[in-house]
Amino acid sequence: MPPPSIPDYPAVLASRRAELRAQVASRLAGVRALTLEIGCGHGHFLTAYAAAHPELHCLGLDIANDRIARALRKRDRARLTRLDFVHADADDLLAALPEEISLAQVFVLFPDPWPKRRHHKNRLMQPEFLARLAARCSPGAGLYFRTDYRPYFAEARAVVAEHADWRLQPDAAWPFEHVTVFQARADAHESFVAFRRPPRVSASG
Ligand SMILES: C[S@@+](CC[C@H](N)C(=O)[O-])C[C@H]1O[C@@H](n2cnc3c(N)ncnc32)[C@H](O)[C@@H]1O
Repeated sequence: MPPPSIPDYPAVLASRRAELRAQVASRLAGVRALTLEIGCGHGHFLTAYAAAHPELHCLGLDIANDRIARALRKRDRARLTRLDFVHADADDLLAALPEEISLAQVFVLFPDPWPKRRHHKNRLMQPEFLARLAARCSPGAGLYFRTDYRPYFAEARAVVAEHADWRLQPDAAWPFEHVTVFQARADAHESFVAFRRPPRVSASG
């Protein structure tokens, strides 16, 4: 959503994404398959995940710079060379991700719930975003969603269930347990797993 207060927003956005593209291309040089965590906060989950899966390349992103700074310190202490964190918005990252990199797994853990109706438009899990995300995923890629806010869980699950690019998998196991900061504060949470459907082939081939 273009902030009305910024003149020439398209140019600002293009320059921000170009800068991010250069940064990501150099930090992910040689990577083909990536595990992504959107809204990683301080990086607790992804650091534990990367330590348990040292063969995988993992990237966490968050729009809060101080959280990314803490996540990077955590990564350095753990000496995890295939784990990185970047200060970026989810849509910017999808637009800036080098073409040769496909997302193999995507974690969305306790995203901002935006409880007020007039703010629902700010929620991450919307059909358009899910289509842009699917476009960067390999066929069969997993989408792992968890929240403690029941109305958002119901809405996100319904959006994914109806989405042409995703197949909800109610019996799929949660791949890795590690309590996040927001999970620790919550009384309960709910999760779902979905998989990227193979891309549709157009009638003309
Ligand atoms: C409620 S916190 C959850 C943090 C962490 N996943 C956890 O469970 O502790 C949501 C996080 O998502 C980040 N965030 C919100 N919108 C985002 C976006 N468009 N792109 C990337 N991160 C975003 C926020 O800055 C915040 O750190």
